[in-house]
Amino acid sequence: MVKICCIGAGYVGGPTMAVIALKCPSIEVAVVDISKSRIAAWNSDQLPIYEPGLDGVVKQCRGKNLFFSSDVEKHVFEADIVFVSVNTPTKTQGLGAGKAADLTYWESAARMIADVSKSDKIVVEKSTVPVKTAEAIEKILTHNSKGIKFQILSNPEFLAEGTAIQDLFNPDRVLIGGRETPEGQKAIQALKDVYSQWVPKERILTTNLWSAELSKLAANAFLAQRISSVNAMSALCEATGANVQQVSYSVGTDSRIGPKFLNASVGFGGSCFQKDILNLVYICECNGLPEVAEYWKQVIKINDYQKSRFVNRVVASMFNTVSNKKIAILGFAFKKDTGDTRETPAIDVCQGLLGDKANLSIYDPQVTEDQIQRDLSMNKFDWDHPIHLQPTSPTTVKKVSVVWDAYEATKDAHGLCILTEWDEFKTLDYQKIFDNMQKPAFVFDGRNIVDADKLREIGFIVYSIGKPLDPWLKDMPAVA
Ligand code: NAI
Repeated sequence: MVKICCIGAGYVGGPTMAVIALKCPSIEVAVVDISKSRIAAWNSDQLPIYEPGLDGVVKQCRGKNLFFSSDVEKHVFEADIVFVSVNTPTKTQGLGAGKAADLTYWESAARMIADVSKSDKIVVEKSTVPVKTAEAIEKILTHNSKGIKFQILSNPEFLAEGTAIQDLFNPDRVLIGGRETPEGQKAIQALKDVYSQWVPKERILTTNLWSAELSKLAANAFLAQRISSVNAMSALCEATGANVQQVSYSVGTDSRIGPKFLNASVGFGGSCFQKDILNLVYICECNGLPEVAEYWKQVIKINDYQKSRFVNRVVASMFNTVSNKKIAILGFAFKKDTGDTRETPAIDVCQGLLGDKANLSIYDPQVTEDQIQRDLSMNKFDWDHPIHLQPTSPTTVKKVSVVWDAYEATKDAHGLCILTEWDEFKTLDYQKIFDNMQKPAFVFDGRNIVDADKLREIGFIVYSIGKPLDPWLKDMPAVA
């Protein structure tokens, strides 16, 4: 029986391995992690991450051919294929701070693999890493190998949170990069044999190591760039009276462009986009390509601009101050159908409003109070470390309360901001909300999910990203 071990039981390691176990009953899959609490959660009824469909997959396989364990060494020792899906944070200190990937966790995983292995293994990069990481890992492994042969593969993960299980069941492509030697090709074939148990062969792409590593960074950069492009247009739409939804629909009907990923919003978030672009920027700079680095940097600059533009709109429309005013925040996760808050635009928007002394009342159906408090008090990039290495008792942000109901959040509020596109926010009883708010009552829709005309009929002053402005807002220009 082929044995797979995955180091890192996170958003990627957990769902990808659960799906491999489901689709390959003849393979034994162990997911291991240094965080004992995370492993305990994977073994309980309350999984550590929320992902539609994940519970069902885990329940079908757990205890049969899928195991979660904190005995990292034992399972690595036994495995034929070891996936590494550990954190790759952005460096906050030293060379490349604020841009380069910190490979501490990756390197310690590689050293541990070399230490405990007594048989040949295929080591698979699942984490997103800078180009040429495989080569570095290969060096660590071979210099410590004691005669054991390791083959390194790059198998970047393209799943999107919120649709992870669907994406894994039916991926657009699986990408496997490896050495162009006979041993490298054999290793590629071994991993292909796993995926081909459910993925059509033509969707399994094989490349050299560097192309696979770079393709992942490039794919995320292209996706984020589309969002920044439409968000840049949204600012121009507001200035000219055009409607960004009409513009993006018209643009997206061109088959060369396509309709997906063209929704204007308060900005992109998630653990990958910003980190991967910063990483790409750093690699360009290291390779003497400052113009290319500058080009990609702009995608992040527009994203930051969009978030501060939103905050400025809120403050400017409410008579240039939100000091001691209650503002309801609906949605904190970086997108719907996930409880993930990593790099969510809600953090920057909330911090911007707190900077203007607002009182925030936050509701998100999937995010806990503890998580929100941590996010609002953590330093930039600190989230991307194993849970037990993050600050344990964050200072509570006093002007923030977290509630479990949208009506409670909006009661007596002066304004409400929609920051995540949860479906339930589309069907709230906005008349009831309006009746319980201070007047004038404002809605700032950072996701363009409410029917602005209906809300205006109720009496709200409405701001929708990239839509023709309410006369009220026209008179209150948001200049930073
Ligand atoms: P995560 O933070 O949810 O999980 C990483 C896990 O690795 C943590 O539970 C941590 O305790 C564990 N870990 C760290 N060092 C370890 C070690 N030496 N031994 C055992 N366990 C260790 O992170 P996530 O989101 O799963 O990301 C993992 C990698 O995949 C990152 O490189 C990320 O950039 C990449 N990625 C993430 C995607 C996403 O949607 N979240 C999508 C595609 C790639």
